[in-house]
Amino acid sequence: MTAVDDPVLVVDFGAQYARLIARRVREAHVYSEIVPPTLSAAEILARRPRGIILSGGPKSVYEGPAPTLDPELYRAGVPILGICYGAQLLARQLGGAVARTGRGEYGRTALSVTAPSPLFADWPAESVVWMSHGDSITEVPPGSVATAHSAESVVAAFHDPERRIYAVQFHPEVVHTERGAELLEHFLLDVCGIAPSWTHVSIIEQQVAAVRAQVGGERVLCALSGGVDSAVAAAVVHKAVGDQLTCVFVDTGLMRAGEAEQVEETFHRQFRIDLVHVKAADRFFDALAGVTDPEEKRKIIGTLFIRIFEEVARDLGAGVGGTGPRFLVQGTLYPDVIESGTGEAASIKSHHNVGGLPADLDFELVEPLRLLFKDEVRAVGEELGLPHEVVWRQPFPGPGLAVRIVGEVTRERAGILRAADALVVEEIRRAGLYRHLWQSFAVLPAVRTVGVMGDGRTYAYPIVIRAVTSDDAMTADWARLPYELVERIASRIINEVDGVNRVALDVTSKPPGTIEWE
Ligand code: XMP
Repeated sequence: MTAVDDPVLVVDFGAQYARLIARRVREAHVYSEIVPPTLSAAEILARRPRGIILSGGPKSVYEGPAPTLDPELYRAGVPILGICYGAQLLARQLGGAVARTGRGEYGRTALSVTAPSPLFADWPAESVVWMSHGDSITEVPPGSVATAHSAESVVAAFHDPERRIYAVQFHPEVVHTERGAELLEHFLLDVCGIAPSWTHVSIIEQQVAAVRAQVGGERVLCALSGGVDSAVAAAVVHKAVGDQLTCVFVDTGLMRAGEAEQVEETFHRQFRIDLVHVKAADRFFDALAGVTDPEEKRKIIGTLFIRIFEEVARDLGAGVGGTGPRFLVQGTLYPDVIESGTGEAASIKSHHNVGGLPADLDFELVEPLRLLFKDEVRAVGEELGLPHEVVWRQPFPGPGLAVRIVGEVTRERAGILRAADALVVEEIRRAGLYRHLWQSFAVLPAVRTVGVMGDGRTYAYPIVIRAVTSDDAMTADWARLPYELVERIASRIINEVDGVNRVALDVTSKPPGTIEWE
């Protein structure tokens, strides 16, 4: 994905804050990108930003080495909005004062608007904002005017309209600031004068044009995983280059119920994409026979997946001197690009899908989603007509059901887990909870337990229900599913899935647990 012209740039003084601001700007239909504060003014201005937002951050302006900005930027006439740390930095660098008053503000705070400002155009005199600061701005820079205060901040906002510089001590990007979204819109539309044109349709148009320019008349390969990222990436590339695209779906026998059929239905029948469907379950079960160590399983699955992918690519004529596909589609998203820290092309992710594809396959990467956040990817997927089920599917680990089958992975045990998992998902969907949960699935432990069914004693597997809420999978909380729902899932699994006689609920958060059992 190539850069988009004339962005709003968010200078990153603290990753989560900057990311949230960038997302909010895009929600206002204005394209935004995150840049590090280490860029010089010339480098920032070379991007031709239509506005610049300085994010909050965890540092104090007094802390060494607290990040600063090239002050040349303040003379360029590009509208600037400083938020929290960004506001304090503006105050200090422009000649105002920031002090450690010892009276910070954290959480909901009453704000009084004291002077007219385009940012506060439709605000009442008093409103609730979200603050999180230890230092305070005590004096505005020469030429600036204070526009708001709070109980502990004599300057909760200031501006210098002539220089087009605006600063707020609170966080307009968080939902707890009552009119935060409006404030950002005022900055973007009224102060910067930007027409909101970043829409899902425009994203698609831009990316389709970029893919066409990159690929020309050559052939492109895409490995589908059944997940949303590879599906949307494939759909964008297909819109761009049509039947120059070949998709590969390796059915490992460890997919969720209906996944292989869904991929076939969506990509082959609906989109009429050239789809190579490799039915490789036997190879995977053979390779996994007798293996119980989780990392060993991952390695075996990853390696075999790569081997199969290479076979397909070779069959299609790829490789040194070959006439086959030279380009490989990768569903890299913007958070991965930011995390790589450089903004440079990310190399193929090792964690992606099934262990990552080998670099020595010698493909040039096509990454049509590399500037998008997950919610934008979903919106693009919807816009391109992908089924809701694909677009809203919960994340699924590359090694598939294998890391949810504790102990040996056999065809029989995978069958039990897949059937139980399908019932968990079906009931969670029916209860309207599927999209609210980060993941919800079944786990098959490596023990059997005694039960009674009818007149007989049973000795069969338990199934564990695992459902979590999370924002990013780094931490997670176990979902408080309604008891009636848990009961319905349990009784359906025991009655409908052969080989299961007991159901348990996992009530472990992450940390100390992980989301998956292996
Ligand atoms: P854990 O279990 O570490 O999982 O809390 C965090 C997130 O990562 C997914 N996951 C994987 N994804 N390959 C993947 O592509 C893997 O080997 C893998 N292991 C865990 C997991 O589903 C959760 O969303």
